[in-house]
Amino acid sequence: MSAYGTFPGSRPRRLRSSAVMRRMVAETRLHPADLVLPAFVREDISEPVEIGSMPGVYQHTRDTLRKAAAEAVAAGISGIMLFGVPEEAKKDALGTAGTDPDGILQQALRDVRSEVGDDLLVMSDLCLDEFTDHGHCGVLTADGRVDNDATLERYAEMAQVQADAGAHVVGPSGMMDGQIGVVRDALDRTGHEDVAVLAYTAKYSSAFYGPFREAVGSSLKGDRKTYQQDAANARESLRELALDLSEGADMVMVKPAGPYLDILAKVAEASDVPVAAYQISGEYAMIEAAAQRGWIDRDPAVLESLTGIKRAGAQIILTYWATEVARKLG
Ligand code: PBG
Repeated sequence: MSAYGTFPGSRPRRLRSSAVMRRMVAETRLHPADLVLPAFVREDISEPVEIGSMPGVYQHTRDTLRKAAAEAVAAGISGIMLFGVPEEAKKDALGTAGTDPDGILQQALRDVRSEVGDDLLVMSDLCLDEFTDHGHCGVLTADGRVDNDATLERYAEMAQVQADAGAHVVGPSGMMDGQIGVVRDALDRTGHEDVAVLAYTAKYSSAFYGPFREAVGSSLKGDRKTYQQDAANARESLRELALDLSEGADMVMVKPAGPYLDILAKVAEASDVPVAAYQISGEYAMIEAAAQRGWIDRDPAVLESLTGIKRAGAQIILTYWATEVARKLG
């Protein structure tokens, strides 16, 4: 008994008293099957190129991408999300390389699909920004605005060529109004009823995308604030969720993850389909950079960031650490 009689009457520390006790009472457990690896494949290189602002992440050649996919299978993760980086000379105003059946992304989809078969979900970013010379996620009007409905036609075409190339899942990430319905319809019309749509439902205009823009050699000047959401707003994510569900989304995603855990929790509460979160390039870069300087302990920081995302409600997590973390969890 303590000097205070029976005080404290309750001792929550008992449940934290040993590693095995903490393990037993843990409410959130990361599992390799939760994880999806985003990966970049670049057209004009013969060796992989490390991305300066994302140490440990590479622009792959077609060959090294196949290897990364095989490693992802061995590690037991669920999917790989592919981003294509075309030759600079192939970028144009319409993002033609994004719908070319022999464009880099389509080649990579075929490569990876033949490497992994159905042992890993092959996913593709469905967006024009990697392929346009102006760097926007859509096509532009004569006066330079992003033309929503003309862009939808390009997305419909992209959905078909990506599915033809072997994508199990397409991820429309351009935040155009109506994109999920148009993509679903294009897939159904072309015999791809079984290809799933992972909707970027709540995608915020974020400074944390910075390193990604280096990763894909983006030509963007200006910003995406007329189509990506404003960090100040939560309600519109629920509106976007309702729209995406009504248009046929099979899974919905919140992005970025770390700075938007409140949004993730709200979307997870309201969604009746699986919820994903994308831990983006800047979230990766911050932890790696701080760790390189010895300012934080990298491995526990990585796990803590992912546990927080899962605890907030994500069932599926896209993270550049997917393979590494899955091996450790293994
Ligand atoms: C758009 C897209 C972006 C990311 C994924 N898909 C960039 C953007 O919207 O600017 C960012 C991913 C990351 O930062 O890790 N194609």
